[in-house]
Order: sequence, then C-alpha cells, then structure tokens
Amino acid sequence: MTLIPEIKPQQSIELLKELHILTRDGKLNQDTRRKLKQVYHLYQFIEPLLTEVMQEQADPVLVDHGAGKSYLGFILYDLFLKQQATGRVMGIETRGELVEKSRALAQRLGFGRMDFLHLSVEDAITTEQLPAQVDIVTALHACNTATDDAIRFGLEKRAQFMVLVPCCQAEVAEVLRKHKSESFGLTPLAEIWRHPLHTREFGSQITNVLRCLQLEAHGYQVTVTELVGWEHSMKNELIIARYKNSPRRNAQERLEQILSSLNLADLRSRFIY
Ligand SMILES: C[S@@+](CC[C@H](N)C(=O)[O-])C[C@H]1O[C@@H](n2cnc3c(N)ncnc32)[C@H](O)[C@@H]1O
Repeated sequence: MTLIPEIKPQQSIELLKELHILTRDGKLNQDTRRKLKQVYHLYQFIEPLLTEVMQEQADPVLVDHGAGKSYLGFILYDLFLKQQATGRVMGIETRGELVEKSRALAQRLGFGRMDFLHLSVEDAITTEQLPAQVDIVTALHACNTATDDAIRFGLEKRAQFMVLVPCCQAEVAEVLRKHKSESFGLTPLAEIWRHPLHTREFGSQITNVLRCLQLEAHGYQVTVTELVGWEHSMKNELIIARYKNSPRRNAQERLEQILSSLNLADLRSRFIY
C-alpha cells in the first residue's frame, strides 16, 4: 500500500514507474507530480464517457490513435477498466518498437483487455483487426493529419465519442501559403495569414474550426475546451465530440463557405465527405 496521497489505492505502482510518473524508488517529485495532475485532468474528461458507454454496450471498445507509449490507454485501464469485467483499449501506433513495448507491459501487468496494433491511423480504418463499430476514439497529440484520419476513423466506425487533442497540423497552413498572393486579391482576410508565423498559427487554428464543423455536419455535438495543466505545451486544445444523430443544419454550408472564402478549396475532400 502506498502512502502517497495523490496515488489511488487501486493504481499499479509498477505502471506509474514505467510511465515515469513515479521515480524508480517509488516517489513523486515536482515534475512527476505535475505530470500526474495532467493525467488525472485528462482522465476526468474520459471517465464519464467510459461510464456512459459501459451502460449501453456489453463490451465497449476504445481506440487510441497515435498511442505512442500508450500512457493514456494504460491509465484508463488502470484507473477504470481494470475494475470492470469488460471493455477493451486498442492502441494504434506506427512505431513498431513502441507497439512491442506496450504489448510487453500490458502482459506483465496482466492488462488482458489491451491490444496494440502496428498500423497507421489511415490503415486502421480498413483493417479487419478492428471491429466494424467502436465506442470511443481518442487521439492525443497524434501528429499532423493523423487527427484528421482519427476523425474519419471515428465517423466510419460510428463512434459515440471522440476525444481529440490535436497536434500541429501543417497541411492547411501549406495551402494558405501556396495561394497567398492570389488570396490577397480575393479577400482582405488574407491579412490574417500574411506573416509566416501567422500563416502557421492561423492554419492550425482554422484546422480545428474546420474539424469541429466537420463533426457537427456528421451529427456530433462538439465541446472545445482547454487542457489546463498542460501549460508547457501550446497544443492544449481539447475537442470532445458526442454523437447526437442531429447534424447542425448549416455546418456543412459553413464549411464550404470557409473553404471558399479562405481559398482552401484544395482541402475540400479532407473535411467534406
Ligand atoms: C506526439 S506522440 C503522442 C503520443 C501519445 N498519444 C501521447 O500523448 O503521449 C505522437 C505519436 O503518434 C504516432 N503517429 C504519428 N502519425 C501516425 C499515424 N499516421 N498513425 C499512427 N500513429 C502515428 C507517432 O509515432 C507518435 O508515437
């Protein structure tokens, strides 16, 4: 039993050490205490969603895209799923060595309802290794357009919830840059992305706006909030989408209008399908 008040009695000390939340001698230091706070902060958003899907599905599936070391999946399993008889976490990751490590750790901890697939998010959409329907999709700092692929995955798999913390996305900024001089003739709004730094920042912001509209057009209710406690990272926008089967009427129209007024029509197929 641990005497560290921040650590809950059911938590695996071995896991916390593996995730470098506890030091090798089982202690929290200033850095790891902050890390643990961040993990709990994210957990508090996902735990109610898991509780909800557990009530509706016999064996719910959460798919975590761009899983990396899979710390999100491990924490969710350790704090929540471990206590349940059903519920599965599947991590999708392109770096084979991380997939192997996660598999080995899950086996060592006896976390039998965790799987890790060495796949890109894009390939995860069509693989037969994943079920036709999943309940929750997460993508935490999945690089560049992997968040967009995760959204497409969630739409194809009819996910009840998507929890996204986007990474920087370069694709939209690239198109803004490519058409910059033409855009100046089209709209004074082009001033917003005139300077290279602004091109990058605005590109990143407008990407998330387009993602939200895309989700709303497909019947999701979207909440955008800040992942507080992640001050070290600029990328702390948390998008939570819940399927409501009630597409916002003008979402698709707005998407079309924004793509056209910002000269982003090249990206139509990314956001509208
Ligand atoms: C910044 S890390 C985030 C890892 C983890 N989600 C976290 O928050 O700690 C991004 C991870 O996504 C993986 N990745 C990038 N693009 C991917 C893709 N298209 N499909 C699957 N994984 C991808 C990278 O290999 C990397 O491990």
